[in-house]
Amino acid sequence: MAQIILVASGKGGSGKSTFVSGISNALADLGKKVLAADCDIGLRSLDLMFGVTENVVFDWGDLLLERCTREQALIKGRVDFLAAPRSFDDAFTTENVSKLFRSFSDDYDYIFLDAPAGIDRGLTVPAAAADRAIVISTADFVCVRSCARAFEELRRAKIEDIRLVINMFEVKPACKRKLLNIDQCIDETGVQLIGVIPRDINISFSSVTGKSPEADAPSSLAFNRIAMRITGKRVPLICE
Ligand SMILES: Nc1ncnc2c1ncn2[C@@H]1O[C@H](COP(=O)(O)OP(=O)(O)OP(=O)(O)O)[C@@H](O)[C@H]1O
Ligand SMILES: [Mg+2]
Repeated sequence: MAQIILVASGKGGSGKSTFVSGISNALADLGKKVLAADCDIGLRSLDLMFGVTENVVFDWGDLLLERCTREQALIKGRVDFLAAPRSFDDAFTTENVSKLFRSFSDDYDYIFLDAPAGIDRGLTVPAAAADRAIVISTADFVCVRSCARAFEELRRAKIEDIRLVINMFEVKPACKRKLLNIDQCIDETGVQLIGVIPRDINISFSSVTGKSPEADAPSSLAFNRIAMRITGKRVPLICE
């Protein structure tokens, strides 16, 4: 039975989709069966990060609307993938969308739902399907504050297990006075930390090429640690 994990942030561009692709690959490396579903309706991007854009013909909206079969919608790979619909449909209710994602539960260990920016129905509809959530924030106060709002919405959607990932973290940032430290991010969001991902130039390349960063890239090491923590292993939050 899969755990369905929603990845959200409130503010755009904090690294939700990057996180979903990185963590899905890291869990696949641990031998887990993973499905990643892009829920950014109208602004899909996860297909690029998985390098499967050419293979996308149908999306999960087509499946929900019975325009295609499950086999046609599902793009099989090391991590299986469902593309986001191009536009919202009245049939995308919390009940229907939950039922759809839960119908994949028996075949996977983890199902990741990549939420869009914002706290409207784009967030609340996939949130209804989720067992857990991970909110992604940079150490920028604007991002941290919107992350705190997303956290409130997820709590309202009855998700109790919510964890924070601080992304694009820099130990020695160029504009230090504008950024928060790790403790301040935790205090301001009110969310328990599950991991910290450094700013890593390899991620910028991989989002263009669709290939994961090398195994020894700083971001890959961070994704591996978070993957182990998701599976319940006790590993340090930050690499020494
Ligand atoms: N740790 C990182 N180091 C360097 N670049 C990163 C990192 N994380 C994400 N990025 C870059 O930041 C940009 C935004 O990332 P991404 O698309 O994952 O954000 P998002 O939260 O999904 O955005 P949206 O809200 O639009 O869906 C991308 O160009 C990505 O390559
Ligand atoms: Mg995204």
